[in-house]
Amino acid sequence: MSEVTLTFADGAEHVLAVEAGQNVLDAGLAAGLPLLHQCRSGSCSSCLARLTSGHAEHRAGASSSLTPSEKAEGLRLLCMTEAQGGCSFSLGYDSKVGETKPVVAQSFVNAVERVAADVVRLELELAEGSWMTFRPGQFINVTVPGTDVVRSYSMATTPADLPRIELFIRLLPGGVMSDWLENRAAVDDVVTIEGPFGAFFLKDKVKAPHVMIAGGTGLAPMLSMIDTIRATPGKKPPVLLSFGCQTPEGLFALDRLELRGHWLPGLETRLSVDRGTCESARTGNPVAAITADDALPPDAVAYLCGPPGMIAAARAHLEALGLSSENIFAEHFTASGA
Ligand code: FES
Repeated sequence: MSEVTLTFADGAEHVLAVEAGQNVLDAGLAAGLPLLHQCRSGSCSSCLARLTSGHAEHRAGASSSLTPSEKAEGLRLLCMTEAQGGCSFSLGYDSKVGETKPVVAQSFVNAVERVAADVVRLELELAEGSWMTFRPGQFINVTVPGTDVVRSYSMATTPADLPRIELFIRLLPGGVMSDWLENRAAVDDVVTIEGPFGAFFLKDKVKAPHVMIAGGTGLAPMLSMIDTIRATPGKKPPVLLSFGCQTPEGLFALDRLELRGHWLPGLETRLSVDRGTCESARTGNPVAAITADDALPPDAVAYLCGPPGMIAAARAHLEALGLSSENIFAEHFTASGA
């Protein structure tokens, strides 16, 4: 039996007795704590926490979405973590956040539209009698119509846009969702969704500069966050968004970004493409587009969304530029299979 202390961002502290072989998430949920979670198998990152004292490792042999550098700096997925003696974790969200329980809801397709070589915009509208809310940056699970296959996508819209929900979905060769989107999806189709999930969302009332680095459809949660910042009363923090795709044909939502640049004067957008040339984008990756010349203060807050390799590189780069690791928040894409 190990004594484990969990501290929420609002200071709420709970001490748990975790049995040998039990993971910290299960122990916390059994005790009634409002802990964010979804897959319970190490892939969704919803149960992310930071080890602040003691020893606690992921179960031997378990694979997880965390990169080695994230584990080295103390990040843990509580669903995979077993305590080795007394230890403490901090959670990146208030104790009230987990009180919003995920729900299953029905929605209708409003629009399905190819917006880049390999990206589709799917606009859903909650059906009458269905409702859910979420925080900007969180994701939902979508059941591919006609199958029992579930995929996860971050909302590009904000809670204020409900009942409309917009997703940007990358087309994958042979993918079940891709097949539906390309061959069968039609306006008014019924789509079952479940959510919200995820511990990656905009922190409230942070005035320090924001840095956002997005790879491909990792732009979606950033759009939700930017629109939320824009709509929040009071002085807005400066936002530096670096958005990258592999090729110019992969870039999307550029008209929206331009519009938001007018609406939110503190927003600066940098576009990058790994290869090919494009007037509006530099060649390179979106991580390298942020440099020491940006003079980011140590209390700047960073949001990262993209493939694990990009996240690992961005964390290392931003920490080298002086950002505190505790102010860097990330959502990884996870392999979805077919
Ligand atoms: S609930 Fe732990 S990673 Fe998904």
